[in-house]
Formats: sequence, C-alpha cells, structure tokens
Amino acid sequence: MTRTAIVTGAARGIGAATARRLAADGHAVAVVDLDESQAGATAAAIEAGGGRAVAIGADVSDADAVAAAVARAADELGAPTILVNNAGILRDNLLFKMAEADWDQVIAVHLRGAFLMSRAVQAHQVDAGWGRIVNLSSTSALGNRGQANYAAAKAGLQGLTKTLAIELGRYGVTANAVAPGFIETDMTRATAERMGVPFEAFLAGAAKEIPVGRVGQPDDIAAAVSFFCSEGAGFVSGQVLYVAGGPRG
Ligand code: NAI
Repeated sequence: MTRTAIVTGAARGIGAATARRLAADGHAVAVVDLDESQAGATAAAIEAGGGRAVAIGADVSDADAVAAAVARAADELGAPTILVNNAGILRDNLLFKMAEADWDQVIAVHLRGAFLMSRAVQAHQVDAGWGRIVNLSSTSALGNRGQANYAAAKAGLQGLTKTLAIELGRYGVTANAVAPGFIETDMTRATAERMGVPFEAFLAGAAKEIPVGRVGQPDDIAAAVSFFCSEGAGFVSGQVLYVAGGPRG
C-alpha cells in the first residue's frame, strides 16, 4: 500500500538513502532538511526514478517550521503516516571543553526535533489508524568518548521510541529505533577531518574493528528502516536494532 513518508535530514547521507528506499517501496516521500536546495536534489532523483517526492526546507528543532513542514507534506502528498527522524548534527568535544551551545544544539536537533516531528505527525497517524515512526539512534548511545551530548541524545531517542510505542500502539502506530555503527557519510568524513586523518585511512581503521570487515553504507541503514516501515512489521514495536556489522547493545 502506498503511504506518505516524511524523512528528516534527507538532503544527503543516510536520510537521502532512506528517502530513496521508501520511494522504491512505493511511498510518496517528503524530503525535509535544513538544506532546501540539496533536499531538492534528493526529491528530483526520486521523481526521475518514477516516484513522488517533495522537498521541504525546515529546521526540525523549530516548532513552527515543523508544523508548516508537516502541513505542506500533507497538502502536497497526502496525510503522512510514516516518519523517519534522521536529522542530526555532531558537536564533539571532551566534557571539560564542551560548550553549553554544543550541548544545547545537539539535544535540540536530535531530541527536540524528534519530539516535535512525532507530535505533529501522530495526529495524521491516529486519524489513519496506522503509522510507523523510526528514530535514528547510534551505537554512541552506549557511550562514546568526546560525545557526551550526542550519546545522551541518542540514548534519549531510545527512551522516546519506547514511550511512543507504548502510547501510540493502540492506534496502529509502531515506533522503533535503528542504531547505526560506522556509516560512510559526510558526518564521518567531518569527524576524520576534525581528527586530521585522511578519510580513506579513517575508513580502513574503522573496518578493521567491524566483524563483517567493512564500514556501513547508507543503504545498509535504509534497508533496516524499510523493514520497520513495512506492513509486515506491525507487531514489532519499541525495539532498538543495532546495525553495526556485528553485535552491539
Ligand atoms: P549527515 O551529516 O550526512 O546528514 C545529516 C542531514 O541532517 C544533513 O542533510 C543536514 O542538513 C540535516 N540536518 C541537520 N540539522 C538539521 C535540522 N535542524 N533540521 C533539519 N535537517 C537538519 O549525517 P548522516 O551520517 O547521514 O546521519 C544521519 C543520522 O544517522 C543522524 O541522526 C546521525 O546522528 C545518525 N548516525 C550516523 C552514523 C554515521 O556513522 N554516519 C552512525 C550512527 C548514527
């Protein structure tokens, strides 16, 4: 069945791969991102492949922008009943050097953003008596040096996911989290740059630590998100799936 999906942070990386995958699964996709022009490129690629998509520029941490984005997705594509909260940023630093703004921004985009988007979209899901929410957590939720803000946000998303599953289950809505390990995107490229390591060497070093012997690609995550969004996953809710090329969690 064709649904309308909203994927946040879908201008590039994991979000863009997820938007393309959900379109290939037959859904219309609202490509939401701070970067509206790059979101337009993701939407254009979906349309070029025969799918339906619209690009919407919005900051997920801004309640008015979220309300407007969800309303526009509903107007242009139909009531959104699939939501993937993927938008994210890094502001890594050791605790003693971490500025308050770095803490606040990371919490705002990941946690407040997922809260605002979920609150806006659930109205459509409850009306439809069907819905899927997938939140992007991370292996960093288990703790990671230099990421007090990000680890707290990603662990927080797991608590949010489980609570959404409990509150919304009776309306036919499931909520799950995908927690990626190392994925080759601009986010990990920026980490390599910050550490002064060439990206290729950074990738090779990471791959050595991963049981399947390679780093992850955005499509690896999109495949897991696609499962949680499928009709067949209706009895799977409140789960956290680590997609990291080996056991975690
Ligand atoms: P990325 O940095 O390549 O893309 C993130 C996208 O989010 C960008 O297009 C950016 O413009 C958008 N964005 C940032 N702030 C926003 C805001 N306030 N409102 C709307 N859009 C905003 O990141 P990547 O690697 O694709 O990551 C996607 C998600 O997966 C993030 O939540 C990240 O934390 C998570 N993740 C990534 C991992 C990795 O190894 N790349 C590992 C574990 C989790």
